[in-house]
Amino acid sequence: MPDKLRVGVVGAGRWSRSAHLPGFQRSPHCDVVAICDLNEDMAKEAAQQFDIEDVYTDYEKMLQRDDIDVIDVCTRGGIGDKNNHEPLAFAAVQAGKHCLCEKPVAHDYKSTWKAHELATDKGLKTKVGLTFRYAPSMQYMRDLIAEGFVGDPYIFNGYEQNSQFISPTEPVTKVDLIPETENEEIKVSSIEGYGAPIIDLSLWFVDSPLKSLVGLLYNFVPYRTMPSGDKIRTNIDDGDTYIGEYKNGGFCTIQSSYVTVNSYPGLEARLYGSQGALICRLGAELEHQEVLRKSTSPNAHEVEYVEVDIPDKYYPPGYTPGEPWPAMFYANLVHNFMEEIVNDTEENQGNFAQSAMVQEIINAVELSHRERRWVDLPL
Ligand SMILES: NC(=O)c1ccc[n+]([C@@H]2O[C@H](COP(=O)([O-])OP(=O)(O)OC[C@H]3O[C@@H](n4cnc5c(N)ncnc54)[C@H](O)[C@@H]3O)[C@@H](O)[C@H]2O)c1
Repeated sequence: MPDKLRVGVVGAGRWSRSAHLPGFQRSPHCDVVAICDLNEDMAKEAAQQFDIEDVYTDYEKMLQRDDIDVIDVCTRGGIGDKNNHEPLAFAAVQAGKHCLCEKPVAHDYKSTWKAHELATDKGLKTKVGLTFRYAPSMQYMRDLIAEGFVGDPYIFNGYEQNSQFISPTEPVTKVDLIPETENEEIKVSSIEGYGAPIIDLSLWFVDSPLKSLVGLLYNFVPYRTMPSGDKIRTNIDDGDTYIGEYKNGGFCTIQSSYVTVNSYPGLEARLYGSQGALICRLGAELEHQEVLRKSTSPNAHEVEYVEVDIPDKYYPPGYTPGEPWPAMFYANLVHNFMEEIVNDTEENQGNFAQSAMVQEIINAVELSHRERRWVDLPL
């Protein structure tokens, strides 16, 4: 193992620059040595901004380098076959690199499992951009649950709702919001982009797979405006929900939407158990971008939720109070991944296997919606 891990990043767009690259800069365990983007000017700009030595436009050339240990896939996921995370993640692992990949690794959970198996066979670690489990408050909430704070988990309620794409007149700039044809049935969108993190948290906190679920995909904003001013039909899931039954006895209700009035990320995770409850909210409107509340009062007349202080150890290197959540949470994610690789233990949270379980639920919700029925898991 080299002194410092050497990282190559694919994608020099908005999220790469606001979350991934600042995150790598903050971990003492790595250096970003190469950046690749189809748009050479963007790659060069990012290289200059983040002091990265080498620039590529062809990721395969970057993958051929023996001196790169980790590949970060931060390209745009996209609806249906527009997703290029999948070939990039497979290529990175095939080339023997540890891999961080933005969600979804693949639209089909079976393909995500294959990527996980390939990485495991090669002794490589993986990580998926399940950002919100790396909020300090969420990491602490998980530890409190593991210590028995809530007792037996009964009910998990979770949502990620924001108003990023609520306007039908604001020009659509994100290609993955634009379906290819007008007359097709509703396409999966919000649940994959915005539901995935809360599904991840629901599985992680309750520590049980689901045995069945019933779900809905809805399209609330039927027409959107192109940059040209033309209106197009956008039959995509911009709001969705499901009820799930856990194998270990409890149930969950989950919602996601990007057309509901709320701040970004607008995520809330609530776990109610036999002895207590924890509620964690993440939102740009909060002073510290996150708040964790707890209650252990057994008497219904005395229940009071009090704010919990998050211990310092849950914060990323270089944390400054009030810093924006993308930098804070992603610095935690990246540093955690670098530590998992450097420490060379079995630890590998939020990896391709976890992403496959999340994706299986997304695939099951789609099936449930299309056939209007309960769906049993595993699929
Ligand atoms: N985890 C989170 O909380 C979170 C938040 C925001 C965005 N994201 C995800 O991050 C990803 C990137 O989003 P973005 O807003 O930065 O997108 P973007 O469109 O701004 O940037 C993507 C870049 O990837 C480049 N690219 C695409 N295919 C490539 C290839 N084969 N080789 C090299 N470069 C290639 C494009 O040229 C573009 O510059 C998306 O998957 C998005 O869903 C995750």
